[in-house]
Formats: sequence, C-alpha cells, structure tokens
Amino acid sequence: VTTTLRVALAGCGTVGGALVDLVSHSAREIAWRTGVRIEIVRVLVRDLRRLRGPNVQREIVTDDVDDFLASPADVVVEATGDVPTAGQIASATLSSGRRFVTANKALMRDSGPELAALAHRHRASGATLDFEAAVGGGVPIVRLLRESMAGHVIDSVRGVLSGSANYILWRMEQGESFAESLSCAQERGLTEADPSRDLQGVDAADKIAVLAWLAFGVHPRTIDVRLRGLPDDPRDLTSAARSRNSVARLAAHASHVNGKLDVAVGPEIVDRTHPFGRTTEDQVAITVVSRSAGQICLSGRGAGGAATASALLADIVRAAAPIPVLLPTELSYANFQLQT
Ligand SMILES: NC(=O)c1ccc[n+]([C@@H]2O[C@H](COP(=O)([O-])OP(=O)(O)OC[C@H]3O[C@@H](n4cnc5c(N)ncnc54)[C@H](OP(=O)(O)O)[C@@H]3O)[C@@H](O)[C@H]2O)c1
Repeated sequence: VTTTLRVALAGCGTVGGALVDLVSHSAREIAWRTGVRIEIVRVLVRDLRRLRGPNVQREIVTDDVDDFLASPADVVVEATGDVPTAGQIASATLSSGRRFVTANKALMRDSGPELAALAHRHRASGATLDFEAAVGGGVPIVRLLRESMAGHVIDSVRGVLSGSANYILWRMEQGESFAESLSCAQERGLTEADPSRDLQGVDAADKIAVLAWLAFGVHPRTIDVRLRGLPDDPRDLTSAARSRNSVARLAAHASHVNGKLDVAVGPEIVDRTHPFGRTTEDQVAITVVSRSAGQICLSGRGAGGAATASALLADIVRAAAPIPVLLPTELSYANFQLQT
C-alpha cells in the first residue's frame, strides 16, 4: 500500500452504511488492485442519536455540514438523497478542486450539467464528478454511456430502471399481495425513503432523464418525461400479464428520432424471453441501441445498499488510481495470491 485516500461520506443510511461496510470488508482487495488504502474520515448524518453500524466510528460522525466540508478529505461521497444539501456539498467540493461522487439521481437530474461544468472549470486543481450509483444500482450503465460509447451515435436507451418496483412486481408474480410485497421491499432497503417515488415512476423518470442527458446531450431537468406509474394496486396488471404468459414491468425509454426526443416511463407487459421480462427480484435491465454496435444489453442488481455501494466504491477507486493501475499485473496478482 502506497497512499491513503481520505473519504468524507454524507449520508449513512441504506447506501452510505453499506459503503462503510464494503470499504471495511474489501480493504485488502482494494489495496491490492489500486495500491490505495481508503480511510473514512468524516460521516454526515441528520440525527446524531441514531445507532450506526459497528464499522462507523462515533467520533467521526457529525450533523454539521460546515464541519463536514472542512474535513481533510480527498474524495467527498454523497448518499443523503436530499437535493439542496447534496447540491451545497457538491458545489463546495468541486470548487475546492476535490473529487465528488454521488448516488443521488434527483441531484443529477436537477443540476448534473451545471456540476459537470463546475468540475470542468476546476479540473486543473483535481475536481472530478462521478455518479455511477445514481442509475442502475450495481449495473455500470453510466460508465458505458459516458466512456465506452462516447464515440457512438445512439438511437435509444430503454430500461427497467427501478429495482424496487421490479422486486414488488416479481413478488406479486409469486402470488403475494401488493401490501406484502411492498413491505418486504422496504425491509430489504430496496425502496427510496418515500416509496411512492418508486411506485409512481418518479425515480425511474429521474434515471431515464439522466441517461438521456448522457446519450443525447439534453439537460435532464428540461426533459418532459411522459409519466405513468404503477396502479394503486398492480394486481390487475400482473394478472393480465399472466393470462398472456408474460410479465408486467415498469419500463422507461428515451429515443431520438428525426430530431425529436421522446422520453417516457410506464407499466408494460413484456414477453418472458425479453431482457426486461427475464429480470427477477431487484434486477434492472438496460438496452442501448447504437447505429454502429446494434443493441447492447446490461442487467444486474439495481437497488439496495450492497449493489449501490459497489458502484460508489468503483467511482472512489477510479478517482484514486490511474486506469493502468487497475489492470492487475502478474506481479500484483501473485502478491494477492500470497496474501489469501
Ligand atoms: N436505497 C437504494 O436502493 C438506492 C439505490 C440507488 C440509489 N440510491 C440513492 O442513494 C441515496 C441515499 O439513499 P438511501 O436509501 O441510503 O437513503 P436513507 O436510507 O434514507 O439514508 C439517507 C442518509 O442520509 C442522511 N441525511 C438525509 N438528509 C440529510 C441532510 N439534509 N443532512 C445530513 N444528512 C442527511 C440520513 O441521516 P439519518 O440517518 O440521521 O437520518 C441517512 O443517514 C439517495 O440519493 C437515493 O436515491 C438509493
């Protein structure tokens, strides 16, 4: 291990708490891959009295944003879900030439392009903006669009983007009631703090708007998403799907056809063999159609602390290490083998 990367973490709920655990459990592997040791130096919360997990040191927890921002961190990670506070933290972090990583899709929809411009203005002092965890949970769709497909002309992005809505529909397919499925999703930390955001499709709308920004360059806040959420009780929807030997999914799309952008979220009945129909539990699936590469499809776990924290950690690690260091060499592999 050569360097220590100091991380300040805003938010220690489902996602932030899972990140603290992941950093603690994966310390050796991270050091092996990157030569970096991650140290969480400050944690910002709302309620100081709430009990935190065993990996959260009490003395680094604060409820004061100024105290949080004054911490000597190289990377500031945001997982609060609160847009005004997240915006304040993002602006202060980027203006001071530091790296900002967020899981906040609402923040990115509201002001992603402005924050990207701020990061660009302060890039010489080290500012960077990363938000893989904001869309797709553990599925690396942001990096795919932002980097791997930077030279592609994209025709459409489609997806089952809400792992929580998917989990509820999937449990209802197994015969559970809507109320049972929702409470199970909440127990597992799959829903937003306010689950109506998932059920009414607001969460999926923020996500597809952010993906449309990356694919088509349109400001996500200005995108008018045609929005239909799940019905109050989706039982009729799941029964209708079953009678056609299909499944119901909350789907989103953004397509750019003849100079017009069409963006929508709504329930659809899809064939079980379709990538969307094959999603189970809290999985999401996203397809991108590019003129040169055809259809690219990604799927995986799209909600919950562990999946989302893995995307945050990927952004933190990437901020810490130049890409060539991330390609394990024979030597580092041998070292890792010796340690295990
Ligand atoms: N849960 C998921 O599956 C999931 C998946 C992908 C992305 N995300 C995104 O990740 C973010 C966090 O979600 P979550 O599910 O982890 O939320 P959560 O469980 O409600 O946790 C939020 C955390 O942030 C703290 N917090 C909230 N507002 C704050 C404020 N104004 N000042 C200081 N601290 C504040 C809370 O403090 P207290 O603990 O003291 O209340 C809590 O620790 C959101 O942007 C969400 O959209 C979540």
